[in-house]
Amino acid sequence: VMEGSIRPQKLAEYIGQEQVKENLSVFIEAAKQRQEPLDHVLLYGPPGLGKTTLSMIIANEMGVNIRTTSGPAIERPGDLAAVLTALEAGDVLFIDEIHRLNRHVEEVLYPAMEDFCLDIVLGKGDTAHSVRLDLPPFTLIGATTRAGYLSPPLRDRFGVVSRLQYYTTEELAFIVKRTAQVLCAPIEDEAAYEIARRARGTPRIANRLLRRIRDFAQVTNDGVINQIVTREALKRLQVDERGLDHIDHQLLRGIIEKFNGGPVGLDTIAATIGEERHTIEDVYEPYLLQIGFIQRTPRGRMATAAVYEHFNIERPEGHV
Ligand code: ADE
Repeated sequence: VMEGSIRPQKLAEYIGQEQVKENLSVFIEAAKQRQEPLDHVLLYGPPGLGKTTLSMIIANEMGVNIRTTSGPAIERPGDLAAVLTALEAGDVLFIDEIHRLNRHVEEVLYPAMEDFCLDIVLGKGDTAHSVRLDLPPFTLIGATTRAGYLSPPLRDRFGVVSRLQYYTTEELAFIVKRTAQVLCAPIEDEAAYEIARRARGTPRIANRLLRRIRDFAQVTNDGVINQIVTREALKRLQVDERGLDHIDHQLLRGIIEKFNGGPVGLDTIAATIGEERHTIEDVYEPYLLQIGFIQRTPRGRMATAAVYEHFNIERPEGHV
């Protein structure tokens, strides 16, 4: 089986994000009826929730090609011009980490999004003049972890803005079973749910855990993925009952043991565990906030009572 087919190809195969899916299906159908490209779409939310997958599905449903790039990859206006002029009518241009485009590149993007044209400056000094180049109509799909990172003028140019949410355990269990089927790996229901409960609401994590557990199952259990193999494998992978990994542990234990439960500033936490501030903010913290393990206060982050309970540690005097 081709690894590529792990990604769903159609909206109907895509599990979860029901509201986003319903809205997109209407916008896609309407655009197709009018024989126009879909309006520009901004997808935002924590990493691993399916922004890239959804973009590929949108292109597939529209019956057009998708070109994929990222904010950091487009360094100069010329880089963007090269990508835009290579598009065919109706194509989807997917820009991952779109908040990382620099200002000069952004300015080229505005007229491209709004009027499908490119203003190019030719010559230097006194002889400099600009020419306007028509572009094929296209759909820009931008992806970012947080809409707040985008400059307002860029954000305002997206006609569709959709936020992806963490998945429920049921949705993740469906995804795990679907992926296992694609991989031809036999899996029992209890195992799929065990993985789902420990995937931090994130399909990318669920599918990664599934692959590793499949390895254990293959070597120790004739390939059958049941709950016992799954629990044993997750123990070896240092994934705990709530799906928290080594870095989550360092982060939470750091707040408890070094800062008496907080509040402590994010930069201080970052320094003590040796992770980038942005990685903590975009990757680790959102889920810990979601499950109520961390609280944001004006004076910094605090570990909640649930964390003390999780680690079976006595709370200090005065901890709320
Ligand atoms: N694989 C990864 N994410 C998925 C989703 N949302 N639906 C179906 N399969 C997936």
